[in-house]
Amino acid sequence: MSDNTFLWQGQPIAFTAGESIAAALTAAGIMNFGPDMAGRDTRYFCGIGACQGCLVQVDGRLTESCLTPASAGLQVTNAGGTHG
Ligand code: FES
Repeated sequence: MSDNTFLWQGQPIAFTAGESIAAALTAAGIMNFGPDMAGRDTRYFCGIGACQGCLVQVDGRLTESCLTPASAGLQVTNAGGTHG
């Protein structure tokens, strides 16, 4: 893995410095961030932490992907903790 990737559901995703996880996923063509705990699809929407629509788990911690800076080596999975 290079220094500018994190893992999304086990797949390397490239990012640029200062980019959020949500922005990097969207730039990689991933528009659906998978189900949340209630089974609802998550995605990049408001971009300011207001809608909670972009929840993911980052290294096992539930957080808004639009507010979380991408960082090398992070393990990001969907909020519901399922694969796919
Ligand atoms: S996109 Fe709305 S909280 Fe992240």
